[in-house]
Amino acid sequence: MTTNQQELVKSTVPILREHGVVLTKHFYQRMFQHNPELQHVFNRGNQQNEKQQTALAMAVLAYAEHIENPSVLFPVVDSIGHKHTSLDIRAEHYAIVGKHLIASIKEVLGELATTDLLEAWAVAYQELADLMSGHEQNIYNQKVSEKGGWTGWRPFIVKDKVVESSEITSFYLYPADQGAIADFKPGQYVSLRMFLPELNLLQPRQYSISCAPNGLYYRISVKRESGSQHPDGLISNRLHQVVQVGDLVDLSAPSGVFVLQDNLEKMKVFISGGIGQTPLLSMLESLIQQEGAVVQWIHGCREAEVHAFKDRLAEVVQEHVNVKQHIFYDVVDETEAHVNQGWVELAQVNDAVVSQNAEYYICGPRGFIEKHYQYLVDQKVDKASIFFEEFGPASLQV
Ligand SMILES: Cc1cc2nc3c(=O)[nH]c(=O)nc-3n(C[C@H](O)[C@H](O)[C@H](O)COP(=O)(O)OP(=O)(O)OC[C@H]3O[C@@H](n4cnc5c(N)ncnc54)[C@H](O)[C@@H]3O)c2cc1C
Ligand code: HEM
Repeated sequence: MTTNQQELVKSTVPILREHGVVLTKHFYQRMFQHNPELQHVFNRGNQQNEKQQTALAMAVLAYAEHIENPSVLFPVVDSIGHKHTSLDIRAEHYAIVGKHLIASIKEVLGELATTDLLEAWAVAYQELADLMSGHEQNIYNQKVSEKGGWTGWRPFIVKDKVVESSEITSFYLYPADQGAIADFKPGQYVSLRMFLPELNLLQPRQYSISCAPNGLYYRISVKRESGSQHPDGLISNRLHQVVQVGDLVDLSAPSGVFVLQDNLEKMKVFISGGIGQTPLLSMLESLIQQEGAVVQWIHGCREAEVHAFKDRLAEVVQEHVNVKQHIFYDVVDETEAHVNQGWVELAQVNDAVVSQNAEYYICGPRGFIEKHYQYLVDQKVDKASIFFEEFGPASLQV
């Protein structure tokens, strides 16, 4: 790319900052109109609440801003690459996206989109596409080289379905071909894909693995998303209500960059809201198999009825003196003296959990992550020791 082309791409940054989501909304409409088969690849819920359009707009903006040195984007390229490969996105898809992205820039910018500007964006997109699809090919190569690893979709049988709370149910998933399964890093997710007959649509969703690696099965634990103002969640309701033991679902191999660091010297502090506990549970289950791990488990949810895995946590705390838990409910009754009333407040457990020699893993809704991240930074915790994951397209910047 020439310096002039880099300047042209950078000149669109203010427009992207202000109107990026308008551009990406137009892009998705255009792409689905011309390539309807891609509706089976994208998460329809994330389209409807516009999270995916925002995530793509922010990625394009970040790229335009760093056009002179895109290597600073590597952590983002890696995390998007994990999501893309878990959805079986291949190099050939980049040509389709590129075509509709450049056409959308032309259609949205109108007269501002000169031939030179469009040419500069086409070159810039191709460089980004090569960078991303090259990295994704490395991830695919890595997956097939592992024992039990695979790429694309593989059928798994639901061998057990266990109710964990009034709204969370676990599914024990074994490979239908009875072959080996890939190991995973605690914290990783699988993508699960199902056909929705009522919409004539395949739909993928990510679910964190909620058990420790065991070589036999993956356990996922799913919250039923019931919409009060919106329609019920498509896949979570189908899993809860329709899918039975013996049924098949398609899974992609474990992916994701929100993983337990290999560093036993540091205390591990797990902070979760509601269903956000699933990746942390996998980390906890794997840590307690090792000597010497010190863990603080902090969890908040509405009330006892929706509190999943409370018996398992009680058991873990009883068996492992180095594991302590701090639970918060919005509503506490008189039999629950051990539970803190209200939303999770780290200040209430500050002395036990704030340390310069700890790692923090936060998972929950966006506001939950922002609040606890900020609290920890205010307490002078090193940002490099705080890891977080939001259950949606990754657009949270802190
Ligand atoms: C990395 C990662 C890990 C995850 N791990 C887990 C996990 O361990 N357990 C788990 O339960 N979930 C997890 N999730 C979330 C999961 O992938 C799904 O997003 C979740 O199950 C909801 O999917 P759904 O198909 O049921 O809902 P969708 O149909 O996708 O709907 C999502 C939400 O949007 C609302 N909605 C529907 N229509 C509209 C509309 N028109 N406008 C606005 N809102 C609307 C729905 O009511 C619902 O609440 C994870 C997500 C990610 C990205
Ligand atoms: C330069 C090109 C691209 C950029 C900058 C980009 C960017 C992104 C970003 C930022 C996310 C969110 C990541 C996350 O949730 O962690 C994402 C997810 C996704 N991308 Fe891409 N992407 C590109 C190309 C593609 C292509 C070629 C396809 C395939 C047609 C694709 C399909 C998807 C899908 C299906 C998701 C998940 C959507 C969801 O869960 O809602 N992307 N991409």
